[in-house]
Amino acid sequence: MLGKTVCIGVGAMGGALLRGALSQGILRRDNVSIVVRRPEHRDELVDELGVTGFVELPDMAQFDTIILAVKPQVLPSVLSQLSSVKAGATVISVAAGVTLDTLRKALPTAVLYRAMPNTPASIGCGMTALTADNGADTIHVEALFNAVGEVAVVSEADLDRLGALSGAGPGYMFVILDALADAGVRIGLPRQLAIKAAAQTMYGAGKMALESSTHPAILRDQVTSPGGTTIAGIGAMEKGGLRSALQDGVVACLARSNELGK
Ligand SMILES: NC(=O)c1ccc[n+]([C@@H]2O[C@H](COP(=O)([O-])OP(=O)(O)OC[C@H]3O[C@@H](n4cnc5c(N)ncnc54)[C@H](OP(=O)(O)O)[C@@H]3O)[C@@H](O)[C@H]2O)c1
Repeated sequence: MLGKTVCIGVGAMGGALLRGALSQGILRRDNVSIVVRRPEHRDELVDELGVTGFVELPDMAQFDTIILAVKPQVLPSVLSQLSSVKAGATVISVAAGVTLDTLRKALPTAVLYRAMPNTPASIGCGMTALTADNGADTIHVEALFNAVGEVAVVSEADLDRLGALSGAGPGYMFVILDALADAGVRIGLPRQLAIKAAAQTMYGAGKMALESSTHPAILRDQVTSPGGTTIAGIGAMEKGGLRSALQDGVVACLARSNELGK
């Protein structure tokens, strides 16, 4: 049971999580409060989410669960203000790179979790890596993220790695999608049709990979006939460094996350 819950920071990720959890009924509007920075943002959230509980940062004593969804650079200042967190409260941080060790120093009596979700959580298609401090039970926190997609309970080191793969992954996918749509336009397709065709193809290929137990390399082999058109396209993409660019991107993301966590 998450109980009375507050989300500190309701931007891209906090918003995605709240949207998903509220629409799936895992959180109730009358049991959720938010902490936001700008008053105008609060008004937008009332309209959009229907959440009406607003609190100021230090006022945490009433909450059973606290979700920390501010930027990693902002988190130290937020943590320093959280003096009234009750002992045994569940605290879930989604901040990239901020370690359990850092969280424990700031909140020694809370039960701590780190989660690395991604923004498709807002439509129930998220991928979340979850880790708990000191082997704490993950069941109720898993249920929160399960309501908005898939969850993998992992070690803290793997959580950071998954942050660089699936946490940041929608960003990579949108760049690829935009590039494919550009390619469609370049060969003469209308923009909207090119975007739709590229997005549905990404969605379909991802779903196929998830639903079959077949390795992606074999799925690719199945669509590349000898001397055919698809292998000609893949060959040109490989020449352009597609694979190594994706690997370098994930490695750079992990390095930046480690840097932000220091
Ligand atoms: N975006 C992703 O795909 C993703 C994926 C995995 C994890 N994360 C993690 O999620 C966290 C949030 O990232 P984001 O992308 O959601 O950033 P974001 O869109 O900038 O949202 C951060 C929110 O925090 C608010 N905020 C700033 N200072 C605050 C304060 N003192 N009190 C209350 N709210 C405050 C900001 O308000 P203003 O709008 O007024 O500045 C903003 O709405 C980060 O730690 C990130 O590592 C993000």
